[in-house]
Amino acid sequence: MCGIVGYTGPREAYPIILKGLKRLEYRGYDSSGVALLNHDLKVYKKKGRVSELEEDVIGKDLHAFTGIGHTRWATHGEPSDRNAHPHRSASGRLAMIHNGIIENYASIKQELVNKGYTFHSDTDTEVLLNFIEDIQQNNNSTLEEALRIALKRVVGAYCILLLDKEDPETIIAARKGSPLVIGIGKGEHFLASDASPIIEYTKEVVYVNDYEIAIIKPDELILKNLGNEKQTPFIQKLDMELAKIEKGGYDHFMLKEIHEQPETIHDCLRGRLNIENGTITMGGVESHLETLTNANRIIMVACGTSWHAGLIAEYIFEELCRIPVEVEYASEFRYRNPVINKGDVIIAISQSGETADTLVALENAKEKGACIFGVVNAVGSSIARLSHAGAYTHAGPEIGVASTKAFTGQLAVLTMMALKIAKAKGTIDDTRYSKLLQELNDIPEKVKLVLQDTSNIEAIAEKYKDAADFLYLGRGYNFPVALEGALKLKEISYIHAEGYPAAEMKHGPIALVDDKLPVVFVATKDSYYEKIVSNVQEIKARKGMVIAVATEGDTIIPGMADDVMLVPDADEILAPLLSVIPLQLLSYYIGVAKGLDVDKPRNLAKSVTVE
Ligand code: M6R
Repeated sequence: MCGIVGYTGPREAYPIILKGLKRLEYRGYDSSGVALLNHDLKVYKKKGRVSELEEDVIGKDLHAFTGIGHTRWATHGEPSDRNAHPHRSASGRLAMIHNGIIENYASIKQELVNKGYTFHSDTDTEVLLNFIEDIQQNNNSTLEEALRIALKRVVGAYCILLLDKEDPETIIAARKGSPLVIGIGKGEHFLASDASPIIEYTKEVVYVNDYEIAIIKPDELILKNLGNEKQTPFIQKLDMELAKIEKGGYDHFMLKEIHEQPETIHDCLRGRLNIENGTITMGGVESHLETLTNANRIIMVACGTSWHAGLIAEYIFEELCRIPVEVEYASEFRYRNPVINKGDVIIAISQSGETADTLVALENAKEKGACIFGVVNAVGSSIARLSHAGAYTHAGPEIGVASTKAFTGQLAVLTMMALKIAKAKGTIDDTRYSKLLQELNDIPEKVKLVLQDTSNIEAIAEKYKDAADFLYLGRGYNFPVALEGALKLKEISYIHAEGYPAAEMKHGPIALVDDKLPVVFVATKDSYYEKIVSNVQEIKARKGMVIAVATEGDTIIPGMADDVMLVPDADEILAPLLSVIPLQLLSYYIGVAKGLDVDKPRNLAKSVTVE
């Protein structure tokens, strides 16, 4: 959460920072602000969206060649002008922005209060900034030294950018747990939470590691660890296109990303799935094939939508590979004392690769000797770098806060992994293996068919948009799809929605059913079909309104349901790749019909870098 941008070089800093903040706004949109350093240090900040800051600074002095900017997802202190970043130090000499949480801020604040400091915000950031300044003044040290000392006392996560009025061309940055990318231009440097604000200026980037401090001037980048030892920056080439982070004619990123899925799934399969010779090429799996095939247990660790992908993968891995699988919420897993044995493999699933809970859960598991396999979308992200091996989902940048194309990318990667492991273990017969390979290869075309005409889904959205609650039900591979459908609806439309295994409904949720409750059944033709037909009847008998995701050609479910969204037939293992698409669209259209900001739903942020 929170997006940070910085620039130092020969160009005007403000337009670069502003554009960068707009690109990073998906990370948090409670407030935004900039600090611009010329001879003077100017700080402008405003509650609300970046556009409100933009309006607010019209006519103000924005001239500077060095600057930093921040878009906030509030943690400490309500969204307000005073809690917006950047913060100024007590003397007014320093300005700082921060992404993360300083957990021991209260004790540090007390020390500073005892020394006579007063605070102008409720944030942990202002505390850290004054702590740094206090050390600088008392020890008569450089800002860099003071920062190093301060960070050794800090518990928590941070990516910070600091400006010092006395050093107008320099930005000092540090990270632990929250991401930072530095773009290297000719006589200029760009800093950001991800590469999206940087790509139009340079393709050469350095991903700063945890516990590193960067001293950045227009023509110099020095990286050091907290022990003051110089580190060699590892320069990487960005593989990202500008067009991919723009809306490209769609009203919202979410809609664009839903419609990109035929292409993104195809990109994910491309170069890996080879139908002609019946192979799956995945470097990360191959390099750890023995560990994976001999795994006693696989533990999937993830949050949110990625956790749902893990649940589907549990069914697939157990079915195809005969390896026991557990799926864990990273936030619970990290605070338990989980039993991790030799022979256990952790599969970490994350779009952003920066989710704090997932990251720490993996660090803990790695310390205990587990093999970590990352299924990550954001190239070069923290989880990707922490993993022993991995496979990228290749879905491209996902900007809409609701995860859509990353989810289907995760499913495609996890299915290929399971097939490859099953083949190596001999737990799948050749006929089924070849059939699944062929069907997986056909998925992008089938997704295209689902997306061809969405007017029916739009009409269903209009019909049910005012419902107060929704129930989503599914069985087997479609049970996690029901959970995902409910999550999508909650976050985009703010309608209360619950996902449940269809058979479990009789143990409680059926009490909710009346003629006002829309019940979404994910009821494609699979081995659970007869059972789910009975579950639909149970709802209809209680006057519930049924919206069904059904298989084309099916007559029974459409005959019972009030409304139907059809998907092409597919093997049940692959069905979620299709059945989730109408649910993504349903939540999108309901959100739009309710006039909500579907790309930036309230209270949320795309990348949850705080626990
Ligand atoms: O980046 P990650 O996949 O690790 O993020 C996990 C969740 O925060 C994320 O899936 C979240 O639930 C989405 N908003 C769901 O649409």
